[in-house]
Order: sequence, then C-alpha cells, then structure tokens
Amino acid sequence: MRTQVGIVGGGPAGTLLSHLLHLRGIESVVLELRAREEVETTVRAGVLEDATAELLRETGVGERMDREGAVHQGIELRFGAAGHRIDFADLAGKSIVIYGQQQVVKDLYAARLEASGRIIFEAAAVGLDDLGTNQPKIRFRRGAKLDPGAGEIRFGGDTQEEVLHCDYVVGADGFFGPCRNAIPTAVRKEHTRTYPFGWFGILVEGPPSTEELIYALHDRGFALVSTRSPEIQRLYFQCDPADNVDNWPDERIWDELQARLATREGDWKLQKGDIFQKSIVQMRSFLCEPMQHGRLFLAGDAAHIVPPTGAKGMNLAVADVRVLARGLAAFYSSGDTEILDAYSETCLRRVWKASRFSW
Ligand code: DHB
Repeated sequence: MRTQVGIVGGGPAGTLLSHLLHLRGIESVVLELRAREEVETTVRAGVLEDATAELLRETGVGERMDREGAVHQGIELRFGAAGHRIDFADLAGKSIVIYGQQQVVKDLYAARLEASGRIIFEAAAVGLDDLGTNQPKIRFRRGAKLDPGAGEIRFGGDTQEEVLHCDYVVGADGFFGPCRNAIPTAVRKEHTRTYPFGWFGILVEGPPSTEELIYALHDRGFALVSTRSPEIQRLYFQCDPADNVDNWPDERIWDELQARLATREGDWKLQKGDIFQKSIVQMRSFLCEPMQHGRLFLAGDAAHIVPPTGAKGMNLAVADVRVLARGLAAFYSSGDTEILDAYSETCLRRVWKASRFSW
C-alpha cells in the first residue's frame, strides 16, 4: 500500500492531521489500534480552547460541536471557601467549548470517511523503516487488539504483516505507541517529572452541579468540578497516587468532594449521580526532544504529556498538527521544507510553556 503521509494513530492528532491534509489535496492513511466504536465511545478529555474550536469550525467539522457543545465564558476559583470568578471573555476575549474528545474524533471520522479517506481500525504499527530516506515505510498488521491487562497487542485471525510506503511518517500514537522509540536514543532526550500526587477522577451520569468549572483549593487537597455534557459530569480530587479506587465507595467520594467544595455560607451542594467510572491518574509531565527524526514527525501525546491540571493535552496535539499540516502543504506545493525543518523547535516552544502552566 502506498500513500503520501502515513499516520500512526487515529486519535484527535492523527485524524485531524489527515483531515487538514485532505483539505490541501494531500493523501494519507491512518492506522488506528482500536476499533472505531471504542474510540467513539470512550470518554477522555473535553475542554477545547478557543483556537482548537475555531480550527474545527474553519475546516468544516465544527457543526455538531457548535450545536451540542457548551461554551463557557469563565471559571470559578474557590479558595478560603469562597468563589472568585475568572471572566475569560472579559480578560482575554476568548472562551472555551466543552465537547468530548470522543465527539471530536467521531466528527472527524465521519468527515474523513465521507471523503473516502482511509482509516484502518484495529491495525497496529509493528515497525518503522528507512526514516532517513525519502521512502520511509510503516510495517503494520491488521486484526490487532490491545490486551490492557497484559499491556500487549494480540492479533486475531491469520493476518500478515503489511507495508505502508509513504513520503512522510507521523507518529500520533500516544504515549505508549511505538513511534517515539524509532528516534535513536543517541539523539533523543526525554524529560520526565513525576509529581507526588494523583487525581482521583470520576465520571458521573447525572445533572451538573454548576454552570462553569470550579477549581477548589482546600486543606484536604484540590478538587475540580468539570463536565462532558449536560448528562455526564467529570469530577476530580487530589489524592495519593498509590491509593486504590477500591478504597473509595461512592459515598466516601461524595463526602470528600462536598467537604473540599463547601462554601463559607454553606449554601453550595454537590449534585450526586451515578458514578460509572473511577480512576486514579498519576500526575506527570513528559517531553521528548526532538519531535522529529528524518521523515518521522511525532505529534500529541507521543511526544509530550502534561498533567491534566491545565486541560492542555488535546489542545497541544491540535496545535502540533496545525504546524505539521502547514509544513507538509509547503513541501508538496513547492518542495520547501523550512516549516518541517523547524517543526520540533516550533512545537516545543509551545509545549514547554504549556508544561510550565500545567504543573
Ligand atoms: C478538565 C480537566 C482539567 O484539568 C481542567 O483544568 C479542566 C477540565 C476535565 O477533564 O474536564
């Protein structure tokens, strides 16, 4: 199989890149490890910054976001048991849109498939070759299934290894994907910081407790009230990263959140609902330098992880592929590689800032 740009990973970074390239007349093939339905239904990030939302609109995939997403003009910082509103619209002339990552990807899949774009689901990249030449290759195999317990990929059926021949390879395959490791260790510098705390996150089916997000500082630790949709709420409280979700029956979680979010007047009450997911996220930052090697370019979580504090992860991924799309368009229209050559430097400047903002 042959294409111009071979993209490993069909999350927001890889799929958006494929869409942006298509709009510029550049062909790509996306390899996604998971099944389409799984990606479209797994709740993940949900805060779209202004520039992200605007890009989706400008490129014709923002219609459902504008219909179903919620525009927030500010947030509340709650400390000393009192709320303080930060007005984004007033201070920065910007707003955020609450719209789940899985919805963004669903809209992008629909747009790509409508335009006869090629996304191969349940396909695992098993090796990258000839990245130092202008004919790099992705070896991949269909019928892949991730076994999360074993942390391994298994292959069903009697699938054979196939080769995707490309001009460029993009690794948008997340933190655990194989692409980053294709950058030789001699030139790859990885920066990692692991923080001594975690976030206990819950997903709740039920009504929202608040119209805007609340970030609360409390002696018992931080708490955040967020949302994904009018029906699905996302809440977090700071915890020991070594704690176990089994130690937290629902009532204990509600009591802890209520205690951290209580106001001096005692008039604020958390809306409870049906908790359908509990997880503990270790807070950490990670950054890989450079984000490119030969004809391989990394985008999104494959190159950098920020802790969820700043809600920056998906927005950084979108910013990466915006640069990449521009660089690839310049190459294909005039042979000019200036933007591509500076890709890593351009992106890392933003990523370092976002890392600092997020810790
Ligand atoms: C969410 C997470 C954040 O860190 C944040 O600042 C805002 C929202 C969230 O997951 O909803």
